[in-house]
Amino acid sequence: MRLTYHGHSCFVVETAKARLILDPFLSDNPNAKIKAADVRCDYVLVSHGHEDHSCDALEIAKRCDATIVANFEITEYFAAKGAKTHGMNPGGGFNFPFGRVKLTLAHHTSSVEAGLHPIYLGVPCGLLIQADGKTLYHAGDTALFMDMQLIGRAGIDVALLPIGDNFTMGPEDAVTALDFLKPKFAVPIHYNTWPIIAQDPAAFAALAARSAHTVRVMQPGETIDV
Ligand code: NI
Ligand code: MN
Repeated sequence: MRLTYHGHSCFVVETAKARLILDPFLSDNPNAKIKAADVRCDYVLVSHGHEDHSCDALEIAKRCDATIVANFEITEYFAAKGAKTHGMNPGGGFNFPFGRVKLTLAHHTSSVEAGLHPIYLGVPCGLLIQADGKTLYHAGDTALFMDMQLIGRAGIDVALLPIGDNFTMGPEDAVTALDFLKPKFAVPIHYNTWPIIAQDPAAFAALAARSAHTVRVMQPGETIDV
């Protein structure tokens, strides 16, 4: 399983059988080195409705003939706009040709078209992806919650965890999340995109190391093999 980080919460995941993009946010992402038009993929996984996780989903899915995988309300929203979709809900898993995806709990909100009349798109989720013998957990946007202990039972190789604070967990809660999830290593996400979520990822790594957790800070554009 090969992971490329594109800043914020966006990753391209290459498995033996398919290419996935998680939380596509490229064209308006100040830290991304590519645009939505540069992506090739077979599946588009969206953790929740907010535009900083979903805004390039429709364009990429239509151009690549890729399937959007998300909670039921998000997939209905994109299906109405002409995308190929696969709706799920928290606690449910499905065996795709490339591997298994399970939607997990996340504590956050989920809407699009913010303003006077936002459209609420179901509950926010995390993404638990098993492919090529590896298990990846993308926490989406979330607060710390005790049930992360249950998610950790999957035996996580890499956990992608928000540390930005304000909208999600901050660094201290993310370290407690690592106590619950027990991944082989974690990659911090959802920080430094805007001043309101400014964080020092090296300081987070040092804090996590004090509790014997391994953190790998990825730069936008960087690729690692898990
Ligand atoms: Ni959000
Ligand atoms: Mn977000």
